[in-house]
Amino acid sequence: MSFNVNHTEFPLKMYHPTPGALIGWGAYRMAGEEAKKLGIKHALIVTSGLRGTGIIDEITGVLKHVGIEVTVYDGVTSNPKDHEVHAAHKLYKQAQCDGIISVGGGSSHDCAKAVRIVEAHDGQSIREFNGMNTCQKPILIPQLAITTTAGTGSETSWASVITDTEKLYKMVIFDPTIITSRAIVDPALMRTMPPKLTAWTGMDALTHAVEAYVSRLGVITSQGLAIHAIKLINEGLRQAYANPDNAEAREKQAWAQYTAGMAFNSAGLGITHSIAHCLGALFDSPHGQCNAIAMVPVARYNMVACPERYADIARAMGVDTTGMTVMQAAESAVEALDTLRKEIGITENFSSLGLQEHHLPRFSEVVFNDVCTGGNPRIVTTDAIQQIFRECMDPAVEVEAEVLA
Ligand SMILES: [Fe+2]
Repeated sequence: MSFNVNHTEFPLKMYHPTPGALIGWGAYRMAGEEAKKLGIKHALIVTSGLRGTGIIDEITGVLKHVGIEVTVYDGVTSNPKDHEVHAAHKLYKQAQCDGIISVGGGSSHDCAKAVRIVEAHDGQSIREFNGMNTCQKPILIPQLAITTTAGTGSETSWASVITDTEKLYKMVIFDPTIITSRAIVDPALMRTMPPKLTAWTGMDALTHAVEAYVSRLGVITSQGLAIHAIKLINEGLRQAYANPDNAEAREKQAWAQYTAGMAFNSAGLGITHSIAHCLGALFDSPHGQCNAIAMVPVARYNMVACPERYADIARAMGVDTTGMTVMQAAESAVEALDTLRKEIGITENFSSLGLQEHHLPRFSEVVFNDVCTGGNPRIVTTDAIQQIFRECMDPAVEVEAEVLA
């Protein structure tokens, strides 16, 4: 008797554990105690600064109250850059820190993970760590990740996405050794987000959940987390966008982004994220905005590969699919995603971000080679990616492109 274990592309699945997390209103007040448990005596806070919110001053006070020294690197920008990682690492060495506390959204957490990689590898360029499992040495520096946006999931994940400013692309570093040591998810810190940022980050979380739910790498546990995150976002995102002080909605979004992060930690993502990485690196466009624009055309492309999954997504988004065929239900999921996006004010397209027809051959190669493409449920070609790009562009531009062709 013989059997072929290679009958599927991913015969083995892996569930990745996530770090412990404190979740709830006022959780940030435990930052000092949690940092002490990690052995941190002198913390480097890695952040964008969160100017105008008072959050960094507040957390600095909480840390100093328990005797922890604090040095602040506040130079992180959206789509965090390789040189920001090395600037933060230089400060870490100069101040003789022994741990990192990242405060902010995914950019701050990802930059902090990258600083830990550089420190563990004796100052080696972060540009040498793109891809899966590229760390050669153990990461010993602890990282406490305090999340102030409801989108990233980076406080739970083993991923760090850093822009290589020489080659102009986003490195996606997936390595279990860089996972954070502890997370704090506090809806109180998320109330300072303006509506636009609430919308973008919320759509990032939704993309994490949708891509994890349909991913070829998904496991039963990640699918359960993903579908629950979709339900929470459907219940909370509109209200959090419309009223920053809606406590119930903020709390749902806090849980949703964390849950979606846990889901993609094991399931991976898909080409919506590959596209967002590409445009984020080349145009410095907000990650959540790029996801929100790409997710509907990508869902329409992927739907035929796993219509039952998209039908589940429709139901999680409140669609009554009674009497529909599976394909009709799947199509209704695509419509529900599109409706939600528009209801929270995301009506832009990639043309308005600067994408033009002549970019597509090169950009489609970048998307094809992104590490997230491996999780996409439907086989991808560069031609298909170009067509998805066109659907994300202004129709007028598409017509012009066809005339030129
Ligand atoms: Fe994302």
